[in-house]
Amino acid sequence: ANKAPLRITVIGTGYLGATHAAAMAELGFEVLGLDISPEKIALLERGETPMYEPGLDELLRRHVAGHPDSSGRLRFTTSYEEVGEFGDVHFICVNTPQKHGEYACDMSYVDSAIDALAVHLKRRALVVGKSTVPVGSAQRLAVRLAELAPAGQEAELAWNPEFLREGFAVKDTLHPDRVVVGVRSESAEKTLREVYATPLAEGSPFIVTDFPTAELVKTSANSFLATKISFINAMAEVCEAADGDVVKLAEAIGHDDRIGKKFLRSGIGFGGGCLPKDIRAFMARAGELGASEALTFLREVDSINMRRRAHMVELTREAVGGTLLGTRIGVLGATFKPDSDDVRDSPALNVAGQLHLQGAQVTVYDPKGMDNARAIFPTLRYAPSAHEAARGADVLLHLTEWREFQELDPAALGEVVAVRRVLDGRNTLDPAMWRKENWHFRALGRPTA
Ligand code: UGA
Repeated sequence: ANKAPLRITVIGTGYLGATHAAAMAELGFEVLGLDISPEKIALLERGETPMYEPGLDELLRRHVAGHPDSSGRLRFTTSYEEVGEFGDVHFICVNTPQKHGEYACDMSYVDSAIDALAVHLKRRALVVGKSTVPVGSAQRLAVRLAELAPAGQEAELAWNPEFLREGFAVKDTLHPDRVVVGVRSESAEKTLREVYATPLAEGSPFIVTDFPTAELVKTSANSFLATKISFINAMAEVCEAADGDVVKLAEAIGHDDRIGKKFLRSGIGFGGGCLPKDIRAFMARAGELGASEALTFLREVDSINMRRRAHMVELTREAVGGTLLGTRIGVLGATFKPDSDDVRDSPALNVAGQLHLQGAQVTVYDPKGMDNARAIFPTLRYAPSAHEAARGADVLLHLTEWREFQELDPAALGEVVAVRRVLDGRNTLDPAMWRKENWHFRALGRPTA
């Protein structure tokens, strides 16, 4: 029998939701995306996104209804009623930011999305949580859903954590490393197999488990990644004390494939909207569960990470002769990582801000993050190019490893700075190239000359 294809809705069209909605349309489904912000919807309907993510605008334009040559499979709305009527499967993609002044994350967007959706579920539907949540949330939300939905038990919950990386969001969503689903019934599993049929056919592993395990897979994966970065940054501290080279060390241990080369890049540490807040929320949740001892090491992972930023500020102070007051500093990079315009909890912007607050004149250049940086740090100076940021600088800092910074010409840059001195906070510049042009080059965790 020819069953109608599943109709999918995506609640929340931020990073995760916009990507997921476009990807579902690409996989052939009819998709309705919801956001409470009409401005965001208007933007998406024009095939544009509020953030910079390689390939996402193109993917949207391929499917958003009303675009020339689009499949027309992707539409947007602000109405929960419309979403409730339309969908067989509803993905919850709202964010769970860190609560102000606390370790725990803020569940209010997830809670209100479930409440607002549930009352419009009048027939059989699967609600699939994708947001990163404290373990135990799915269990609680399932109860809430069944209470509020007119369809009662016919409105079922599943948990399906998302592992996409910014900068690779489209690729990670269409070709996931693995699909993990926490389900309570065979029909929920069957529906999710149908949703992910294409990636599963291409070989993505499908892991079926219970609610708590599905929730924990996400937080433990991010904790592991954060731990790996802090491990190599701890080695950088030791290398610096012993005059060793952490870049060589990482390369050498990475050849052991039990260790692996990835996520062993030392520098000013991890930032962004996920890793820092996820490890904190995980510690907070473990505390509530009476298991805080199990995660005390994450407190150390967090402190090693925060120490990197302070260390970068100290090295800069040393480099300019002991006091920052009145010095000119050129900063390359503001985003938390390259190929993104995201400056949330960005180590680069944090370091630039600290230097400014201590009296330096800081001029920042970033290929994509300028508007977002200016919005949260309007008192820094912003330059339209790396050269302009470097003009007149007593020291140049490399804080986000954009490809274009690796391709800078040290000879040409040397003409515009006051002093040929560079500090590499990401360990991706080639020391020999800079030293050849008489730059004083220093990198975190690497020998001074
Ligand atoms: C991270 C995870 O990698 C994703 O799998 C996960 O889905 C996502 O969080 C999430 O929870 O939504 P993302 O925040 O996009 O993704 O960024 P990462 O690529 O993990 O980088 C995080 C930070 O670590 C960046 O500031 C980056 O510069 C830093 N980093 C990364 C290092 O300092 N060294 C490394 O070797 C790798």
